[in-house]
Amino acid sequence: MKTIGWVLMIAATAFLILASSPLQAQPDKIVLDQGRKTRPVVIFPHYHHIEAGVSCKDCHHVYENGKNVLEDDKLEEGNQGLRCSACHGSKSRRNLVQAFHNQCIGCHTTYLKKNEKTGSRYCGGCHVRK
Ligand code: HEC
Ligand code: HEC
Ligand code: HEC
Ligand code: HEC
Repeated sequence: MKTIGWVLMIAATAFLILASSPLQAQPDKIVLDQGRKTRPVVIFPHYHHIEAGVSCKDCHHVYENGKNVLEDDKLEEGNQGLRCSACHGSKSRRNLVQAFHNQCIGCHTTYLKKNEKTGSRYCGGCHVRK
């Protein structure tokens, strides 16, 4: 019993050390749900994009004078300032749904034009019915 306890504790510590590295602390799949009216929620394969080589700052941004000045150490899980809703509210130039649609569909279209593997541009490709 005792040995097992230690093994578990060491494993848990190793996990914590690994998980605390900022650039690894990003969620795998994220349910994007800004309130339902018509379409099913979007299950966003976050990690799949990172694996495919899309850079963090192609999606995450803080703009100053038109430049993305987001710092790497801000890309940490639990940072509510990263949420798109932190800035794209009903009063912003792009509301939340526009922000998502412009970013997601915009990039998928850009990749398609480059003839590279990409995600959907069709409603049902992202708003998947269960
Ligand atoms: C293809 C676009 C895209 C890429 C690439 C991307 N992210 Fe994200 N990320 C998102 C979206 C969208 C969300 C959800 C935001 C929301 O809920 O408003 C998110 C959420 C997060 C969160 C969660 C914030 C919270 O609520 O806890 C973290 C942390 C994060 N991303 C870090 C990263 C890091 C680090 C990278 C690069 C290694 C990265 N992201 C790459 C789009 C992306
Ligand atoms: C810290 C505030 C902030 C956060 C967080 C933020 N944005 Fe933005 N975003 C802005 C500002 C400011 C602009 C430029 C003004 C504008 O066009 O609305 C902008 C512009 C955009 C644009 C158009 C220009 C471009 O970069 O393509 C899109 C699309 C967009 N945001 C989507 C998103 C998405 C999706 C998220 C979440 C992953 C997000 N934003 C998170 C502030 C933010
Ligand atoms: C900056 C570029 C970029 C942005 C922004 C982006 N994507 Fe993607 N997406 C890709 C690429 C590239 C792939 C193909 C990755 C691969 O399989 O090689 C992809 C693939 C996908 C897939 C298919 C995954 C699979 O299992 O084949 C889904 C679903 C998807 N994206 C949803 C979204 C959603 C939802 C958003 C917005 C929150 C988004 N994407 C934003 C570039 C982007
Ligand atoms: C590349 C992915 C993607 C595609 C393609 C896409 N959407 Fe979305 N859509 C999103 C994301 C992400 C959100 C914000 C999260 C959510 O669903 O609440 C959203 C939100 C919405 C919302 C607000 C939520 C609701 O149900 O009221 C509506 C309406 C919507 N989309 C309609 C459409 C329609 C219609 C199409 C096709 C013309 C479409 N979307 C194509 C990703 C996508």
